[in-house]
Amino acid sequence: MTDDQTSAADAGGSAPQGVGRTALGVALARAAESARPDRLFDDPYASVFLRAAVTAENGPRPPRGERTEAWSAMAAHLVLRTAYFDDYLRDAVGPDGGCVQVVLLAAGLDARAFRLDWPDGVRLFELDLPEMVAFKERVLAEADAHPRVERHVLTADLREDWATPLRAAGFDPEQPTAWLVEGLLIYLEADDAAALLDRIGALSAPGSRLALVRDGALRRTREMARRDPAMAPATRLWRGGLGRNQAQWLRGHGWLVHETDERQLRERYGADRVTGGHGFLLAERPSPARSAARPRRAAARLLVLDPDGSVFLQLHHDAEVGPHWVLPGGGLEPGEGPLAGAVRETVEETGWTDVVPGPELWRWEHDYHRADVGLVRQHEVIYLASAPRRDPIGDLTASFAADGILTCRWFTPKELAEVTEVLWPPTLVALLEDLRRDGPPTEPIDLGYLPNHWPGMG
Ligand SMILES: C[S@@+](CC[C@H](N)C(=O)[O-])C[C@H]1O[C@@H](n2cnc3c(N)ncnc32)[C@H](O)[C@@H]1O
Repeated sequence: MTDDQTSAADAGGSAPQGVGRTALGVALARAAESARPDRLFDDPYASVFLRAAVTAENGPRPPRGERTEAWSAMAAHLVLRTAYFDDYLRDAVGPDGGCVQVVLLAAGLDARAFRLDWPDGVRLFELDLPEMVAFKERVLAEADAHPRVERHVLTADLREDWATPLRAAGFDPEQPTAWLVEGLLIYLEADDAAALLDRIGALSAPGSRLALVRDGALRRTREMARRDPAMAPATRLWRGGLGRNQAQWLRGHGWLVHETDERQLRERYGADRVTGGHGFLLAERPSPARSAARPRRAAARLLVLDPDGSVFLQLHHDAEVGPHWVLPGGGLEPGEGPLAGAVRETVEETGWTDVVPGPELWRWEHDYHRADVGLVRQHEVIYLASAPRRDPIGDLTASFAADGILTCRWFTPKELAEVTEVLWPPTLVALLEDLRRDGPPTEPIDLGYLPNHWPGMG
């Protein structure tokens, strides 16, 4: 036992009530999975915790686990989540991950410190409410369980300042950390969830990682659970979590965000394991040195307007920016001028050979994440152009795939003002208003460097 947890053990260690009881639900799903011949993981401690909860004097019973549709769907999620986060942590502390600290926030009855193999030198911190920590440590001590990693257990209410006790326990914010927030955010109000994620960001050295369940991924399962009286002890504690687009929020707070969807999960864990709305977020804290040394890339684009003033845009997605709408165009080839490059790229992306280019309007710089190179800073020149309103011409599947274009469409000024994804440039709505009112500028306007995410976005 470390000093960090002495007071927790003094608290008695009876089976957790209230929100702590939700950890018994997770243990129930993990115990059932561990008994399957085709199990995705083996957590022998899950059944130990369950037995201890049942026999605890005056303790509550673990969830009964009725075979309701809602429980089955939730249990399938808990199992997939456990397997996925096991893999996440293995990667994060592995040779390519480089994280030397692991923090399990709201660790509950997570037994990863005891059941996973950890490289030498890793330090693992677990935080949860005092009652939960007391129960867990008592049961682990009775089972004579020994962690396979340097383990520190802390009691903390994660709605309050938990950074101070974490640092006092030896956590080093200068070292890269793998953070796990598993099964917690839903129990927090939006402000508390945002404050928690802010604290994580402030304690994250370059190279740190963070894993979360993707919001919206569980919508159907959660709706079913809300309608199921047997799930009420858990669902009545739900507070909603961040309540905003988590991925965009994280991107706006300095993280690169990779989203894992159902197709990828099916490939990894089998189609029968991925049935109802699953998805995860893996975020990564880029190193400032890498950001400052971003390779520069020269690009040019056409602001193609139809006779009614609608603008043609393409949807892209990357880890740094997330979904964003972009004018046709792209990177210049060696020796190519910006206007020639913008026209060539536009023809490749639209099949339109009759676009009429006009004067240069704007120049700007911005950042994004290219799958082939990583973080880049792009310098772009934008020209006015006109064309009739129509769809792209011909089979552009290969060109779309090569350029990472997900879809394309025309936007009226009103539709553009309502777009929730990032626009390139981010000030495009205002720039178009100026253009409509004043006409093209006599000299191109240099917009300078523009961040993708503005304060208050997402
Ligand atoms: C559903 S369990 C998940 C436990 C664990 N992460 C896992 O997946 O096995 C939720 C956990 O959140 C903890 N929790 C909820 N609110 C908390 C708070 N404000 N501070 C600390 N822990 C909290 C509960 O005690 C419980 O252990």
